[in-house]
Amino acid sequence: MTVLGIESTAHTCSVGIVDERAEVLALASDMYRPPKGGIHPREAANHHVDRLPELLDRALNQAGLRPGEIDGISFAQGPGLGPCLRAGATVARALSLAWDRPLFPVNHCVSHIEIARALSGLEDPILLYASGGNTQVIAYARGRYRVLGETIDIGIGNFLDKLWIALGGTFPGGPQIEAEAKRGSTLHPLPYSVHGMDVAFSGLLTATLALAGKGAERPDLAFSVETTAYSMLTEITERALAHRQMTHVVLGGGVACNERLRGMVRTMVEERGGTMFAPPRSLCVDNGAMIAWTGELARRSARPTPVADSAVDPRQRTDKVRAPWREAGLPPRPVPSAP
Ligand code: ATP
Ligand code: FE2
Repeated sequence: MTVLGIESTAHTCSVGIVDERAEVLALASDMYRPPKGGIHPREAANHHVDRLPELLDRALNQAGLRPGEIDGISFAQGPGLGPCLRAGATVARALSLAWDRPLFPVNHCVSHIEIARALSGLEDPILLYASGGNTQVIAYARGRYRVLGETIDIGIGNFLDKLWIALGGTFPGGPQIEAEAKRGSTLHPLPYSVHGMDVAFSGLLTATLALAGKGAERPDLAFSVETTAYSMLTEITERALAHRQMTHVVLGGGVACNERLRGMVRTMVEERGGTMFAPPRSLCVDNGAMIAWTGELARRSARPTPVADSAVDPRQRTDKVRAPWREAGLPPRPVPSAP
């Protein structure tokens, strides 16, 4: 069984193909990079419309598959920028109709966590989803993924990107702040904003820019920001483990690429006797393979969606959609079938 997934919620457009064991057979991606400042939704959508046909060809070639050998089509239905979402959805609907294959719209946030959970092999972990627009601590309960705690202002990735651009850098800021932080050593005190299981980053942004204005060195700023922000995420993840009496943690989302964050969460989890898993970087950032895999889970546990009912939903939260594959008790990663 193979499912082809299309991701186009924001900067990245991507086509992935996976099989029924979550093996990634193909992944072809491209990123819209605004000439300066933040993302312009219409321009990003035009970029995706231009690039998707070639990415589709590349993915089919990589997988060595013909259209007739694809068993389902999925796409990211939301959350995201309306014009960008519609670009991917339109291509997915066209393929579903032209190839006569079932269509499975899936949630982008749930897809970040399902590909991570599949590769971890962990049945029921706490999930820390840290990305551009989202920062959530999540657990599954009664049919859907529940958000136990989250950012009450901006996503951690957007915070890092905004900060880096304000300091004169380019998008994406997260990986460049990581590189810069490795050369820093002075820990400047910064606002540490944890409220129960929620976090906030805007005070941290203002305070860091104020320090920069007073001449603090960039490597030290990067080091201090990473230490503060990732400690906040580690703390709320630990609180979720304690309250839910759970042991294992899976990371997902673009910021889960970060070595420092991985290390801090791993230390905390291992001290509690659990394991921490983070996927390879190509599957942490936005990618079509995570959409394809969640489409495969949907294919096994739910009916396909008619094209007429497949509208995009720019505000579709993690906890708005059901996870019928969890209700059905499917294992995180199916055991390899006998040859
Ligand atoms: P969302 O999933 O909330 O819709 P998104 O889809 O825009 O957000 P992702 O592709 O999941 O975002 O993640 C992109 C973010 O990850 C960017 O903000 C980027 O700066 C950040 N990021 C990527 N690599 C790293 C890294 N090594 N360290 C910290 N942040 C990183
Ligand atoms: Fe994402």
